[in-house]
Amino acid sequence: MKDIETGMGDDKAMKKYEFPSNFTWGVAAGSYQIEGGWNEGGKGESIWDRFCHTPGHIKDGTTGDVACDFYHTYEDDIRMMKKLGYPNFLFSISWPRVIPDGIGIVNQAGIEFYRNVLTCLRENGIKSYVVLYHWDLPQKLQERGGWMNREIIGWFDNYARTMYRELGDLVDNWITVLEPWVISFLGHGFGVHAPGYQDYSSALTVAHHVNLAHGTAVKAFRESGLSGNIGIKVNMSMIYPEDPNSAADIAAANRQNAEMNTLFCDPIFKGTYPQEYFDYLVKQGVILPDIRPGDMELICQDIDFFGLNNYNGTYVKDGGRWPLYASGVNTGKPVTQNGWEYEPKCFYDLLKSINDTYHPKNIIITENGCASNDWVDDDGTVTDPIRLIYLRNYLKMLHKALGEGIPIKGYFVWSLWDNFEWAEGLSIRFGIIHVDYNTLKRTPKASANWYSNVIRNNGFESL
Ligand code: FCB
Repeated sequence: MKDIETGMGDDKAMKKYEFPSNFTWGVAAGSYQIEGGWNEGGKGESIWDRFCHTPGHIKDGTTGDVACDFYHTYEDDIRMMKKLGYPNFLFSISWPRVIPDGIGIVNQAGIEFYRNVLTCLRENGIKSYVVLYHWDLPQKLQERGGWMNREIIGWFDNYARTMYRELGDLVDNWITVLEPWVISFLGHGFGVHAPGYQDYSSALTVAHHVNLAHGTAVKAFRESGLSGNIGIKVNMSMIYPEDPNSAADIAAANRQNAEMNTLFCDPIFKGTYPQEYFDYLVKQGVILPDIRPGDMELICQDIDFFGLNNYNGTYVKDGGRWPLYASGVNTGKPVTQNGWEYEPKCFYDLLKSINDTYHPKNIIITENGCASNDWVDDDGTVTDPIRLIYLRNYLKMLHKALGEGIPIKGYFVWSLWDNFEWAEGLSIRFGIIHVDYNTLKRTPKASANWYSNVIRNNGFESL
């Protein structure tokens, strides 16, 4: 048998990549990116509604007003998921859909929507991983300072407890917050995400508040008496100095690593913040977050799994961006549709580094995947060879890490559908199912079928 992409090899050269029998395979998506129905069923406005409705923020001028229209199509979508044999679905709740003002009145129509989705998943034998926060903060809370206001810990606690109470009987696994670095730095440091602030000190304050919100939601979950698991979803990247022999590049890479990775993982796993990075920032004039007694204990809760989102590695050179004076460089490796470099080995290096540094008891890859410019061909099919190569080679790295005893329990492809890719809009396609945004027609791509086979066989053959 020949390798499908390269045409090389024979039966002898093919290797079987088998996964543990209880390995969790799944697909992921997020509320604002798929739901649409942005002002339906009593939903409140989110910061992403506001951000997208303000011209100039989204590259192609699109919004998530309709997106994949999952708000109306969830039943058909879940049936398709079942048909494709995907046993786990990871998605988020839109906070303003269930509590329009962020605190106060609970919107029963919003609760009903998620109860319907969860019930439909159960009826189709699909387990749920439900994220409390995937960036669509109620606009009303933004007007009170949003993540900048320490009161958000109480707002989030109330939101989490409300969700445990209203949906807890139907949810299999919970995830507190998604990608704390993105919320903090893309939203408040560099202004490319809602709410669009550009202030490094603010980003650090937000980081601390997001970490606290995570801790408070875990604590509330333990107090709720619900069974099931709870974890967090952190985006991390293996950081390398551009020139491994340059002391300046190494120092810059260390600073970048602190901002992206240890600022979130150290408090979660060790109950501390990276002091060297903080000391460095103070010298640059950055204001550190207000850390109060009890904060670090609240963040450092026992979690059932550590959710890792990873797409690429990061190469850093000295110079450039204040206050880190470190900047990412493109090393000339192949890039996917949105410009992210393709280098599967970085995924393996990262898994090893997380395991060596933090010894998490369970890791779940909660996002991994690739964007490519896919279209429906005349014969009605969508071939996405780049995604196939990407997924297969990243899974090989995961397999290698498993073989070395790294406790990886599951893998979720980002994303089930093409969807609204934040500041990039609708033109960046991450789905294994193609979505035609004019007709909303779904077409499973070649990768969707490949992934079905991987799940069915609990592995794959490749060179
Ligand atoms: C992650 C986000 C997800 C999607 C992918 C491509 O950072 O969590 O919503 O945008 O990247």
